[in-house]
Amino acid sequence: MRTEIAAMMAKGAEQNISHDALRQVRDELGDCQRCKLHTGRINIVFGVGNPAAELVFIGEAPGFHEDKQGEPFVGKAGGLLDKMIDAMGLARSDVYILNIIKCRPPGNRDPEPDEMAACEPFLIRQLAALEPKIIVALGRYAAQALLRDTTGITKMRGKWRTYQGVRVMPTFHPAYLLRNPAAKRPCWNDLQLVMAELRGESTP
Ligand code: URA
Repeated sequence: MRTEIAAMMAKGAEQNISHDALRQVRDELGDCQRCKLHTGRINIVFGVGNPAAELVFIGEAPGFHEDKQGEPFVGKAGGLLDKMIDAMGLARSDVYILNIIKCRPPGNRDPEPDEMAACEPFLIRQLAALEPKIIVALGRYAAQALLRDTTGITKMRGKWRTYQGVRVMPTFHPAYLLRNPAAKRPCWNDLQLVMAELRGESTP
C-alpha cells in the first residue's frame, strides 16, 4: 500500500545530489580499518534505500545476517521493520535505513566507545548527505548514541527530539518488539506521529 505520503517523499531533482554525496562518503569509508571491528566482519553495512528519502531509520549495528549480506535489517528484526514501514504506507525503497555502527560487533555485543568514535564521522556525513526531514531512532542504543542522552528508551520514546536541526523520534527497536509484542502499540503510536509530521501536520 503506497499512500500520498510516499508520493510526497520523492524529492526528485535533489536525488542525484544526495546520491553523489552519499557515494562520496562510501568511497571515503573504503575498506575501513579504523577500529577493531574490521577484523571480524564479512561486509561493511553502509546503508540502503532512497538517497532522497525524507524519512531515515537508524538502528544499532549489523547482526549476523546483515554482516553476511552487507545490508541493514535483513534478519528477523528487519522483517518486522519492513512490516512497520509497510503499515506506514511506505516501502523500504522510499526510506533510507542505516546503523550507528557499520560493522558487526562480535556476538552482537553493544558497540564500544572507540568503535562509535571511529564510525561517527561517517554517520554524521551520511546524515548531512541525506538531509532527511525525520529520523526514527530504533532502540536504546541508537537513540542514546545519536542524542547523547543516557535516558532509557521507555522514557525517551514518543517524544520529538532534535539532531543537527532534524526532528528525531526515538522508539522501540524491532528486535525488542519481537520479544515484547505489547510494546508494538506504543511504537505504532510513535510512528503515527512520524506520519503526521510527514504529511505536514504539527504534532506535540
Ligand atoms: N539490528 C540493528 O540495529 N541493525 C541491523 O541492521 C540489524 C539488526
